[in-house]
Amino acid sequence: MKLTVVLGTLSFFVLVIAIVFIAANEQDRMESFTQSYQSRQIETGAALFENNCIICHGPQGRGIDSVGPAINAADLFNGERLGSFGFSGTVENYLRGVISAGRPVPSEGTDFPERMPTWGMDNGGPMRDDQINALVEFIMNWEEVALARGEDKPDGGTPGEGVGTDITIALPAGDPEVGEELIAGTLACAACHVLGPAGPAWAAEAGIPGIATRAESRTSQDDYTGEASDAVQYLIESILLSDAYVVDGYLSGIMPANYSQRLNVQELADIIAYLQSLP
Ligand code: HEC
Ligand code: HEC
Repeated sequence: MKLTVVLGTLSFFVLVIAIVFIAANEQDRMESFTQSYQSRQIETGAALFENNCIICHGPQGRGIDSVGPAINAADLFNGERLGSFGFSGTVENYLRGVISAGRPVPSEGTDFPERMPTWGMDNGGPMRDDQINALVEFIMNWEEVALARGEDKPDGGTPGEGVGTDITIALPAGDPEVGEELIAGTLACAACHVLGPAGPAWAAEAGIPGIATRAESRTSQDDYTGEASDAVQYLIESILLSDAYVVDGYLSGIMPANYSQRLNVQELADIIAYLQSLP
């Protein structure tokens, strides 16, 4: 009799301990499941953003002048921009709404040449709800850094130091590695020339040589309309006065026209040094 009681009590405790143990682990398991689900969502969102959005909103969503507004910006996350549209919901809901429905009608005070496309299937676009949610998670991931960065100009311009539009300007020595960082940053050159097809690819591809080689012969082409007399001047002209010569097969007015104000002379030299390293 006594032995049964002891055994019963013991097995009761063993059972309790087992349940507590399983429950504790289950919570861990759920947490790590939720975490890995979230990071998968963000990864999916990043890929969707890269393939569909940077062409207008720039790498890292920092915006492209006269093409698409910055999304990675403090005034979006702190509610200022939502307030100005009279929207009183959360930032997540705002993003979900705009991305899904697009902006067929331009918002007041903007003059972007192209409309924000409609993405959600509910609205006749190509993306499922889970894809839109992944994009929203990816964008929300910028919040902390964007708020910390505050109101500094998202396009990274250096006002007052603009290099101007003289294509015969003498350049200091340039550093191609710095140039490579600059073109990948908020100037957004890479969005059009490296990652997407909006501008001529700089790297050699499909039998067409890279930009350094092309620049050598552009000025002696029959259809050349600019003022440059050598490769370096051609590159300077392409950046500061991009419409002086419009590359065959591309449209004028796509490349931002304000790099002469946004770049200082050293930045221009660094970018050109980088372009000259792409034969
Ligand atoms: C063809 C260019 C283009 C593409 C591609 C594009 N957008 Fe836009 N987007 C715009 C423009 C232009 C606006 C501003 C429209 C307006 O306010 O009238 C905008 C606005 C937005 C806004 C609202 C920003 C604000 O200030 O209120 C969000 C969010 C947004 N886009 C997200 C995306 C996402 C995510 C993608 C990719 C799935 C994308 N966009 C693709 C052009 C584009
Ligand atoms: C919004 C897209 C866009 C951005 C951003 C952009 N470009 Fe362009 N770029 C173009 C287009 C389109 C052309 C071809 C039309 C023309 O020649 O003006 C071009 C032409 C060029 C050319 C001449 C290419 C050739 O084959 O002769 C150079 C060099 C160039 N861009 C450099 C830059 C640099 C440097 C930046 C950043 C400081 C930049 N671009 C940013 C779209 C862009």
